[in-house]
Amino acid sequence: MLITSVLLARVSPVNHFQKRAEKYDCSSEWVHDPVLINKIKDLVGAGPDEYLLDIGVGTGKISRAFKGEVSCLFGVDICMGMVKQARLFTDKIILSYAEKLPFKDNIFDVCVCRQALQFMRLEEVCSEMHRVLKPGGRLVLCHLTAYGEGDKKETFLIQKLRNPARKNFFLPGDFPEMLKKYKFSDLKSFAYITRESVNQWINHGAICEDDRVKIREAYRKASGDFKRIHKIQFSDTDIFDSMKMVLVRAIKKKSRLD
Ligand SMILES: C[S@@+](CC[C@H](N)C(=O)[O-])C[C@H]1O[C@@H](n2cnc3c(N)ncnc32)[C@H](O)[C@@H]1O
Repeated sequence: MLITSVLLARVSPVNHFQKRAEKYDCSSEWVHDPVLINKIKDLVGAGPDEYLLDIGVGTGKISRAFKGEVSCLFGVDICMGMVKQARLFTDKIILSYAEKLPFKDNIFDVCVCRQALQFMRLEEVCSEMHRVLKPGGRLVLCHLTAYGEGDKKETFLIQKLRNPARKNFFLPGDFPEMLKKYKFSDLKSFAYITRESVNQWINHGAICEDDRVKIREAYRKASGDFKRIHKIQFSDTDIFDSMKMVLVRAIKKKSRLD
């Protein structure tokens, strides 16, 4: 796997998201962007008789798009501060690590995971998502990535400062490669660009002043390539960054011959 990982994150995701939970829903444009949420919804294509699992459900920003449209909507997460907001939008919330899902094999029609794999042990969570999906079930992922080799180093540095709980850093091609390894098929991948105000996410409640200074510095000192690729704009008080997200849909093979 090409994915860049760090062995030990500086803080645990539980502590990070506990601090951030209150402001989470307005901490980035992508969190509440209706165009992005509808794209995910279309990719999932859930039906009224289906069982859906939202992995790293957070405050339920994705789940709420499916409320009342599926037969059963489960959310899994490790952070109480986040999931207490998701309770209204799900049928059942389970506090559990996604690396060890407390479900039997082959029960979900859909697993969806937005912006949570970067905090997880990938081999374990991929194997678990595969295990709990029914044969023919769909997996839909949506995550921030670098654009490619030209911006990777600076993107990963900023991502690390932005969220010290992050374990994994992605390039767009990483997801199809990873999912093929876990015997998913019919992979489809789409890019989505989200224009983000640095001030908006830098003040989400869990970035210390030291790191906020380092982030602004990283943008100011970034290479011409990075600034061009990310369409970086400096205003008197803010910095704007066009970040890349990758959406992937994959199917759990029905049989080994698929
Ligand atoms: C950036 S938030 C994304 C929330 C939601 N999916 C969304 O799109 O708004 C990441 C979530 O993943 C959860 N998380 C991190 N590591 C996890 C793990 N190993 N197992 C389950 N949830 C985890 C965090 O607690 C947090 O709520």
